[in-house]
Amino acid sequence: MKTEEFIKTIPKAELHLHIEGTFEPELMFKIAGRNGIKLKYKSVDDLKKAYEFNNLQEFLDIYYTGASLLKTEEDFYDLTMEYLKKAARENIVHTEIFFDPQTHTSRGVPFAVVINGIHRALKDGEKLRVKDHDRGITSKMIMCFLRHLSEDDAFKTLREAIPFKEKIIAVGLDSSEVGHPPSKFKNVFEAALKEGFKTVAHAGEEAPSEYVWEAIELLKVSRIDHGNRSISDPALIDEIVRREIPLTMCPLSNQKLKVQANLAGHPLKEMMDKGVIVTVNSDDPAYFGGYLNENYLAISTALSLSNDDIYRLAKNSFTASFLDYNTKQKMLQLIKL
Ligand code: ADE
Ligand code: ZN
Repeated sequence: MKTEEFIKTIPKAELHLHIEGTFEPELMFKIAGRNGIKLKYKSVDDLKKAYEFNNLQEFLDIYYTGASLLKTEEDFYDLTMEYLKKAARENIVHTEIFFDPQTHTSRGVPFAVVINGIHRALKDGEKLRVKDHDRGITSKMIMCFLRHLSEDDAFKTLREAIPFKEKIIAVGLDSSEVGHPPSKFKNVFEAALKEGFKTVAHAGEEAPSEYVWEAIELLKVSRIDHGNRSISDPALIDEIVRREIPLTMCPLSNQKLKVQANLAGHPLKEMMDKGVIVTVNSDDPAYFGGYLNENYLAISTALSLSNDDIYRLAKNSFTASFLDYNTKQKMLQLIKL
């Protein structure tokens, strides 16, 4: 089967997806309109012209501006439902989405508005039909702390999350990486682990491999988000393989944010060959020019991946998920060739 067809057909899980990063310009105009906000851009095309980034921070500045349009539970519901409908068309059967509560609570939007809007859409997503399957999309939520803010602020957010504990599988760490190492959040991650949350963290996206070591040793992460820079440190790769810590990689994001000079130099295949459990994901697809299948296709083309490689990546997406053992086995049955 042709690569493109194979990618479209195979069932997949997505494990690194910021729900605020799925905010498409068309929906921005719609939501801004109903919230009485006037955008400084005249049209969708005008807005899209701003999507040229030289690094992570240039992207984040625009991403937080976009997210600031979200105000009501309905806004969070519509945002999430639009993503789920696209995911269903891509044969995504399970998704684990990040949300950034501080981006909203800092503007006066209550934590409950954010989580209830997203969660209600995720529940309705179970009733959607995934393209080639007689089933909907299952999902989990991961609450990220913004690393450019203080650990005290993260603690405040953790306390706000406790009444909604059953809806959140893990805590994560995102936003501006360099200068905000995992060690800054050691105490709040320790508290989150005590509360029963799993932990993940963005690490080694722009910052060096030391940040990945810290995420593993201090934050006790179950997965590393991105992790590109780990490749420069053979001892770290050995440790990631030994501990079976999956990496959730995002090719188009890395290209757009210039984390990799070009996709042909992306470490994904080398990591797979060294035994790392690598997965492919879309990160912030509304900003980076492609959803999950386009990420699979871009990296497959750049690195000449075979269908066997693609099959392994899809299988890894279930292995690396936070599904319980029995559900994981059932999902893995779905991709038996
Ligand atoms: N928030 C949204 N996308 C992100 C990324 N790629 N890195 C860090 N924080 C983010
Ligand atoms: Zn991310």
